Amino acid sequence: MSNAENIDWGNLTFSYMKTDYNVRCTFKDGKWGEIEVSQDETINLHIAATCLHYGQEVFEGQKAFVGQDGKIRLFRIKENARRIADSARGIMMEPVPEDLFVEMATKVIQLNKRFVPPYGCGSSFYLRPLEIGITPRVGVNPATEYTFIIFAMPVGPYFKGGFKPTKVAIYRDFDRAAPLGTGRWKVGGNYAAGMGATAKAKANGYSAVLFLDPKEKKYLDECGPANFFAIKDNTYITPKSASILPSITNMSLQQIAADMGLKVECRPILVEELADFEEAAECGTAAVTSPVSEIYDEANDKTYYFSPDGKPGPITTELYTRLRAIQCGDMPDKHGWVTIID
Ligand code: PLP
Ligand code: COI
Repeated sequence: MSNAENIDWGNLTFSYMKTDYNVRCTFKDGKWGEIEVSQDETINLHIAATCLHYGQEVFEGQKAFVGQDGKIRLFRIKENARRIADSARGIMMEPVPEDLFVEMATKVIQLNKRFVPPYGCGSSFYLRPLEIGITPRVGVNPATEYTFIIFAMPVGPYFKGGFKPTKVAIYRDFDRAAPLGTGRWKVGGNYAAGMGATAKAKANGYSAVLFLDPKEKKYLDECGPANFFAIKDNTYITPKSASILPSITNMSLQQIAADMGLKVECRPILVEELADFEEAAECGTAAVTSPVSEIYDEANDKTYYFSPDGKPGPITTELYTRLRAIQCGDMPDKHGWVTIID
């Protein structure tokens, strides 16, 4: 058993922590089996499993929060359920049924309640669902057997310092996805593909890479672990592209922006437009809303600046505040995004 009593809830980082239980379910002989509750942190895998050789792996990330009323709230769980099924279909895997996904997500929270951070500490409870192809194959063919697992742990901010502006870089010597490739799905291979560029960015003092569209390298795509948005003239502007992950946070922020009276534009964004933007930020489950202070475009040796006073912009701050408030129940959940877990 891990020790939840000694956790410093306000100073967590975004990293793995052993909790009490994970949940698992296997698809075999054409059907999903019983949900298994496990205390094991490892899996027993065939050496020829398709996930190991041919990348048949999809995953998700979602968060739960404790409200002032002590209730645990899970954010937009059905969207994650839909997306992982979509990702699975994208690489010829068996989609996890939505109901099974929601049941297992609920269960993993209930089983690990003592690891769910208390209200107001700034941390959250992060669920990491993943599905892998487990059939042994040496020829390139989809598996017929799959294991779906959800483990979970308390986490702090993805970027050091939390809601503080960080610097981002644009490189043209890397792509994370192909124009009609797997960028729109949450498959492990996309993250491996982005690691070289991210390592280069980090070595140069940037927190992340802002990838360009892989076809023309003219338009903004997204960051390694998050979508991108900018603010200009009271408008929330975010890239439209076939090679980016449809972010649930971005979708939520677009709605919140509209609720705040902002115009919302989801369209191709030319790199040069960065010069006109007043605010810029990354957004995602792990990243929440992470303001961007500057973007360095290596090919043109040009830097675009967004936080002249070193602080997050006012609209980014309001979007972040409202999102967090809805997630932990401090603002009415008028769009029905939150599921209370008993
Ligand atoms: N883009 C990528 C590549 C991601 O890995 C993530 C994280 O899940 C996001 C965007 C943000 O998506 P979401 O807001 O659904 O977490
Ligand atoms: C998330 O935001 O949940 C992610 O999966 C992004 C990242 C940690 C890869």
